[in-house]
Amino acid sequence: MSTAGPPLALLAELTHRCPLGCPYCSNPLTLDRVRDELDTATWLRVIDEAAALGVLQVHFSGGEPLVRRDLATLIGHARAAGLYTNLITSAVLLDAPRLASLQVAGLEHVQISFQDTEPGNADRIAGFQGGHEKKLAAARMVREAGLALTINAVMHRQNLGHLSEMIDLALVLGAGRLEIAHVQYYGWALSNRSSLIPSREEVRNAVAVVAAARERLKGRLVIDHVVPDYYAHRPKACMGGWARQFMNIAPSGLVLPCHAAQGIPNLRFDSVKERSLREIWADSEAFERFRGTSWMPEPCRSCDRREIDFGGCRCQAMALTGDAGATDPACALSPHHARLLATAKAESEAVIPPSFVYRRYAKMPHEEESPA
Ligand code: SF4
Ligand code: FES
Repeated sequence: MSTAGPPLALLAELTHRCPLGCPYCSNPLTLDRVRDELDTATWLRVIDEAAALGVLQVHFSGGEPLVRRDLATLIGHARAAGLYTNLITSAVLLDAPRLASLQVAGLEHVQISFQDTEPGNADRIAGFQGGHEKKLAAARMVREAGLALTINAVMHRQNLGHLSEMIDLALVLGAGRLEIAHVQYYGWALSNRSSLIPSREEVRNAVAVVAAARERLKGRLVIDHVVPDYYAHRPKACMGGWARQFMNIAPSGLVLPCHAAQGIPNLRFDSVKERSLREIWADSEAFERFRGTSWMPEPCRSCDRREIDFGGCRCQAMALTGDAGATDPACALSPHHARLLATAKAESEAVIPPSFVYRRYAKMPHEEESPA
């Protein structure tokens, strides 16, 4: 059994249902069906277990969490348990009465995703007509209600030219934080990589734009910037290190060390339907598999950064090498790094494919309603 400290944050993926079809969605390629979603009572128990375990923040996410009718109940319960509550949403289903009910329940923070600043392109990327206007209206409502707002902007070769405008938009909307997250290529994004991957020069320009904006907007807007791994020299500590700070609960109740972990074959995930969160965190096979440093191969095993980046991203290693236990190819010390750079260069210079592979939750005829 491990001696891991408590997780800091829980990502509660309430559902995989979502009206949008973002081609870089972090949900797995096989989406959980509505009939498999955890019911309200189970989520309430899980929230209590998370608080008892030492979790500080719960991020209600999806899919689109607003499709769950019990969202206010879950938020209220989390707040009463002393957890900081954040709603991660596309916001296209958010209206004033719903926002008021969530705020009364105890919602403290809202994170809204934007696909672009140009409405036509934003709606095309999201695969949802009229979505951009709804997001703008929702963001204004959030601020008028006095709630903290973060704008999440996923950037790629089809919107990176509007990065400055995205920063301006976050400012105009009154966001306190802007997360500029370049697409990371696993799951749906890997299927769309040649549509999304920017060139090294475009990324370099983006870094300069962000650096200048941070300087200019000090004290007014916090800007987080996650650059694409493909152009990094060393990888990021994905999730702050596997099973160190973070746990993710999928709609069906499987507990995952990261949102994309189901893309790793032969990894057994435990479910909150069968075990407590405390037991799962302590010794679930999936959490233990890449926790710490003892699983590492060379060059990570003897590298002085092994407790800084924890060998990078397991899901990326899986996607690019077929081995989740390999050094992340984003690391220049990986034997796969040169191939990664060559792929990035070739795809970012190629003609953009005519369409995306959209992520769609197709409703089955018998799937009328959510259990909650
Ligand atoms: Fe990180 Fe491993 Fe690369 Fe060292 S060799 S920098 S630990 S990924
Ligand atoms: Fe799974 Fe990085 S996304 S470890």
